[in-house]
Amino acid sequence: MQPRTHMRSPYMEFAKLRSSAKYNLATSGVMSYPLAELPVRIEDLEINGPTVYGYAPLQERLGQYNGVPAECVVAAAGTSMANHLAMAASFNPGDEVLIEHPTYELIESTACYLGAKIRHFERRLEDGFCIDPTEVERQVTPLTKLIILTNLHNPSGAYTDGATMRAVGEIAQARGARVLVDEVYLETFYAKRPRPAFHFGDQFVVTSSLTKAFGLSGLRCGWVLASQELAERMWRINDLYAATPAHPAELLSVIALDHLNKIAARAKLLLAENRRSLNAFLDSRDDLIFYRPAEGTIVFPKLSSGDVEAFVRLLREKYETSMVPGCYFDMPQHFRIGIGGDPEMTRAGLSDSALRWTSIGARRKPTDVDATMIVCIISSVRI
Ligand SMILES: Cc1ncc(COP(=O)(O)O)c(C=O)c1O
Repeated sequence: MQPRTHMRSPYMEFAKLRSSAKYNLATSGVMSYPLAELPVRIEDLEINGPTVYGYAPLQERLGQYNGVPAECVVAAAGTSMANHLAMAASFNPGDEVLIEHPTYELIESTACYLGAKIRHFERRLEDGFCIDPTEVERQVTPLTKLIILTNLHNPSGAYTDGATMRAVGEIAQARGARVLVDEVYLETFYAKRPRPAFHFGDQFVVTSSLTKAFGLSGLRCGWVLASQELAERMWRINDLYAATPAHPAELLSVIALDHLNKIAARAKLLLAENRRSLNAFLDSRDDLIFYRPAEGTIVFPKLSSGDVEAFVRLLREKYETSMVPGCYFDMPQHFRIGIGGDPEMTRAGLSDSALRWTSIGARRKPTDVDATMIVCIISSVRI
């Protein structure tokens, strides 16, 4: 048997080992919701429970939340495991998978790990990172088994509307392929969240979680929405990985879903405040080229010139500020800013005076020295 080639995710290694900082603009999730604010008593929790293929009260709530029958819901450990299950159930090793570019790196690593042959369709900055169905049509082949995209788009935050989604669905259907839509950032629409793409037809498989929009990452409350037949296949595949979830997390997820409006209200306020800081920052720059998303927790500017990776590294190592370099999205001239953090921290991290760096980066040849000079400007402001 051939050994697997892709057995790691460079982005996850970055996120776990090299992204924490006092001014954390790398994280894409809303800051943690405190357990103390959930109306939970110790008597509400139990170690073991009647979970078989799902825990019925959680299945019901996830079904209600998404407007789908509980049989079409596969509870999973975060969107990460949901994506893994959705992919494992949708193609075999050697099959062709068409993925948006740029995309969330773990999607591509997982598809590679599962033995997919990867093709891409482009989402371009100059088009606001929108999905152009004619580009999808150009790149799809008779061998394509799965088309994968994120909505909102990671890294740009761009929203894909229902008409475009339907057009992609038709392209897939004509080839007998499916469309996997990772909607983890669509949750940031809260009460205005559009219906999951699952409702556009049987060829759609949707993944999401309470992780990013609600600050509940630790619960790992994720799910897949799929036809009943595909959902059953995923439950069986899940036996090979996770077998049974942690029951206390299932109980806490039920409580969280029962109080989601309250949790959402806090997240909405936080994001509104951070979006003001982000917009002030973007408005102050003439050396960044960017698409400005209206919703979500991320933005993906392009630096006109200069060495982004060296800058991001030095910024964190010496000046306690982190962002995600675009190399993790295969677009090295970009960087991703996340605005899910504490508002005061986000404001300080983004304040124009603290980030008076790009104009220097733009004028000089991209070297490590540039990056050092850039962060010196920051340090003179901040320290
Ligand atoms: C598009 C996308 N999907 C999934 C995930 C992981 O989500 P979860 O924490 O629910 O596993 C991320 C995390 O950054 C993401 O950006």
